[in-house]
Amino acid sequence: MAVSINMVPKLFFSFILVIIFLFTTACSQQEQEEEAETQGEQQGQQQMKQGQPFGGDEDLAFANALWKEMEKSNLVGESRIVDSEPYKGAPPHGMILDVSEQKVTVKGIEGDLVVKRNYGGDGLTVVDVKNDPAKYLEAVTIMMKREEGYDDENRNWFYVKYAPDGTIMKNPKDALLAGRVAKGAPTGCIACHKSAPGGDYLFIHDRFK
Ligand code: HEC
Repeated sequence: MAVSINMVPKLFFSFILVIIFLFTTACSQQEQEEEAETQGEQQGQQQMKQGQPFGGDEDLAFANALWKEMEKSNLVGESRIVDSEPYKGAPPHGMILDVSEQKVTVKGIEGDLVVKRNYGGDGLTVVDVKNDPAKYLEAVTIMMKREEGYDDENRNWFYVKYAPDGTIMKNPKDALLAGRVAKGAPTGCIACHKSAPGGDYLFIHDRFK
């Protein structure tokens, strides 16, 4: 069939439409691919964060929930009941320490909790601490026995170092001290507590042997 002269503009117009259509699909496909790529990267970053032994989002959420539980149980905070005997500590913890223990449930996980308060100050004595514990409190370090599989090689302990107001403290490399601190490193909570007598990672006694 011969193309009549008045069909030419129509054909030309359809041709342009087809070109525009092909062009837009190609572009949006590229955009989708790019989007998928950045999503992948973000997921990768997320996984890396989740996979790190400490200071990740999950560790922080758990540590914050744990602080709330400790406040409720009066283990920390303004209404804290001083029911444990302060004693002289060894480095790296405070000059005077006191430790209390109890079971807690955090985010549905029940475990034994060891709370240690670290007091410091020049010439500090046990009596000073007994008289005004809040004044000399420098940090609260805890160990909580978590569920099996959390860190089987290290007896499943979860570590946190809190400032007196419950903020999670950082190490000199700016990593937040919550979780399996610092698994795989030659120094830090795990490396040192591994050497505690009895093999239970606790210095104070061997009850968790
Ligand atoms: C260089 C060794 C060392 C490092 C590092 C260390 N600790 Fe300790 N920790 C001790 C010693 C020793 C004791 C026993 C108390 C004392 O006399 O100081 C102790 C006691 C404790 C206790 C009381 C229970 C027990 O084992 O007696 C807790 C809880 C605790 N540390 C938490 C932590 C946390 C959390 C970290 C990391 C932020 C940490 N520790 C890092 C040596 C260490």
